[in-house]
Amino acid sequence: MLNSGNEFDFFYVLSVLTKYDYLTRYFIKMNAKTNRINLLLLCAVVATASACNSGDNSKEAESFNKTNTVSLNPKDFEKTIDGKETALFTLQNKSGAKAMITNYGGRLVSLFVPDKDGNLTDVVAGFDDVTGFKESAEPYYGATIGRVGNRMAKGKFTLDGNTYTIVTNDGQNTLHGGKKGFQDVVWDGKQVDDHTLELHYLSKDMEEGFPGNLDVKVTYELQDDNALKISYHATTDKNTVVNLTNHAYFNLNGEASGSILDHTVQIKADKYTPVDATLIPTGKIEAVAGTPLDFTKPETIGARIADKHQQLQHGAGYDHNYVLNQHGANDVVATVTGDKTGIVMDIYTEEPGLQFYSGNFMKSQNTMKGGHKDDHRTAFAMETQHFPDSPNQPAFPSITLKPGDTYQTTTTYKFSVKK
Ligand code: BGC
Repeated sequence: MLNSGNEFDFFYVLSVLTKYDYLTRYFIKMNAKTNRINLLLLCAVVATASACNSGDNSKEAESFNKTNTVSLNPKDFEKTIDGKETALFTLQNKSGAKAMITNYGGRLVSLFVPDKDGNLTDVVAGFDDVTGFKESAEPYYGATIGRVGNRMAKGKFTLDGNTYTIVTNDGQNTLHGGKKGFQDVVWDGKQVDDHTLELHYLSKDMEEGFPGNLDVKVTYELQDDNALKISYHATTDKNTVVNLTNHAYFNLNGEASGSILDHTVQIKADKYTPVDATLIPTGKIEAVAGTPLDFTKPETIGARIADKHQQLQHGAGYDHNYVLNQHGANDVVATVTGDKTGIVMDIYTEEPGLQFYSGNFMKSQNTMKGGHKDDHRTAFAMETQHFPDSPNQPAFPSITLKPGDTYQTTTTYKFSVKK
């Protein structure tokens, strides 16, 4: 485990001031409480190095002084849930970005990236303790979603001639894998190095109604080019269905900074899967051209969100699966830009679909980091995925996983700035 938040942040700042990154990493691996003398010695060395450093570090130092952050305390994430221990893990890269992840639900809690002025900005909505996530009226903040992300009609599907009944939790439908989906379980967390975290979960045969023991590994990697890469890997011992995603709620102007309606979005998708009033796909694949769902050219989220188009009525805004024109580990499928910070997020995915959700059901019900409410449309999600309700839609790409085969897919959220 890492040291407590204050100690960690203090040395993290020092590392940037001094560029003595290796010293900082060495410190992080030590237990500060039992190594007081080493700690003091290290402080002296780093502080001296800092004082000796020339003025060309001032820009970085300034950016850290202005970090737009709510300081999280890892202790507030240390609980026992379902007999397993939860924790907060911190990933950092050489450019100063930082990602904080809890193994409760495999959730991205905070993601700090630089804005156009070099200020580190937390672009992910979340809570400042694990209890906040557990008791939230909206269960999916930052979470790893499974076994089957998005909606499945009427809690049923047929596989190999067997009809399975799965737990419904969205009216008559199943949303994001049932009531106790992967967002609500404790994963085994293993921090591989300072920028990589592996999470593991064994989803038991018939959990939430799905057949087969599913062995799942999710790896978060914060790369030096400010890309957060999420790799998914799963195997099964019986034929089953799998569709994993991440449900980070982003606000590229900074979490709790207000409306996302002036963010600009571009999605490289000429088609989408229209839905009925319960947000289940009709089975058709239609063109976005000529509709307010067309984001093939950059447009603000708010420009057409109040349009009377029936699909926007069904979703109460954008809540639609886009059929990506191309999808591969090196394909940018969508780009979102924060109007105030200039923070640009490019999304790369191997998945064929992308759910763009504009936070329509956010209702100020939850108190988030720093005491802010999760007001209507103050964050959005971009969930890479196979299409919703795939097991019941023969024309959609299959999400069946068989024993001996491996489910493997990657999604990357890469951050840069537009000046
Ligand atoms: C769905 C929304 C839902 C939200 C819940 C999104 O993936 O598309 O309809 O309200 O998740 O968090």
